[in-house]
Amino acid sequence: MTVEGPRSTTPDVVDVVALGESMVTFLPSVPGRLADVPSFDRAIGGAESNVACVLAAAGHTARWVSRVGADGFGDHLVEAIGAYGVDVSAVRRDPDRPTGVYFRTAGDRATDAHEVAYYRAGSAASAMSVRNTDLDAIRSARVLHLSGITPALSADCLDLMRELTAHRPGRPLVSFDVNHRPGLWREEDDGARVLLDLARGADIVFVGEDEAWGLGGPEAVRAALPEPELLVVKQGAAGATAFQRTVGADGAEATHVASVPALTVDVVAAVGAGDAFAAGFLSATLRGLPVRERLRHGHLTAAATLTVPGDLAAPPARDHADRLAALDDDAWGTLRLGPGWTQAEERAEEEVRTP
Ligand SMILES: Nc1ncnc2c1ncn2[C@@H]1O[C@H](COP(=O)(O)OP(=O)(O)O)[C@@H](O)[C@H]1O
Ligand SMILES: [Mg+2]
Repeated sequence: MTVEGPRSTTPDVVDVVALGESMVTFLPSVPGRLADVPSFDRAIGGAESNVACVLAAAGHTARWVSRVGADGFGDHLVEAIGAYGVDVSAVRRDPDRPTGVYFRTAGDRATDAHEVAYYRAGSAASAMSVRNTDLDAIRSARVLHLSGITPALSADCLDLMRELTAHRPGRPLVSFDVNHRPGLWREEDDGARVLLDLARGADIVFVGEDEAWGLGGPEAVRAALPEPELLVVKQGAAGATAFQRTVGADGAEATHVASVPALTVDVVAAVGAGDAFAAGFLSATLRGLPVRERLRHGHLTAAATLTVPGDLAAPPARDHADRLAALDDDAWGTLRLGPGWTQAEERAEEEVRTP
């Protein structure tokens, strides 16, 4: 006779857990005013799940933790994100609240101006809380990736973010992309202030210069946010600067600063570049690469997304990205990447095999 012991519910440790809301996105079949668009194509949107999908595509183990409705849109998100190889077993279904959706008009190429109509208030994901999310599944990771979108969703989501950015023994490396979306915050909630406080609790922070509390350049941002071991200030098409706190053999603390110019890219669509940058940087972090290389991998992965129409692209193959990341500064500075660049190398190799 065998006696069954209690089933272990300890989830597998993965490289990365990304937590946040994802939505079904509807992209217009024709350009023009939202009022005039007759039909839409379906896609998926979600800053954190984008990061999980790119990391899974880059060969890491990734888990997405979220809440979706018990509806067809929820099925689609779970299935589509799962199809990237992301573990979706900790995504909860909410029987009472719907999956969030949004509609977008085609962006104007020159200005990237587009209209967005969100239907996310009261969504299943906005009901995420400390009580109803699987904290073990969230913490069983080497890196936990979060963003400043989640705390804007509800008071419960903000509490969850405070818990996840609190210094608990044995917590994963906490990565936080500020992603300040003023439209999601009520003015009286002072989103910028809340995001700065949450960022103080993270180990790695990504922030765009244009959303960095009106502080100006990277040095000023670091002065206002000295706590994270690593702070990355993104300067769009110009480049990115990282500040890393290091401890010398004598125990003295120092700050290592690395600045890497962005690549020259023939941009097809700008959406999703920030998520791709974070994924590239985190992938290189998981591989233990030095900060300068992590920045280069961030730029390269962003360039993969910038050169496709959607907001999610397969990252460059690891060998290819490693070769480009190892270029000297002059060669890096003259590199120019356009649509199809991630496959260029594969095609060249195929031509060698089948002349
Ligand atoms: N025009 C561009 N040319 C080259 N790289 C770019 C360009 N725009 C963005 N990037 C890359 O994408 C990264 C993220 O850009 P950012 O504007 O911060 O994105 P987001 O606003 O989505 O957070 C940059 O750090 C850079 O690597
Ligand atoms: Mg961003």
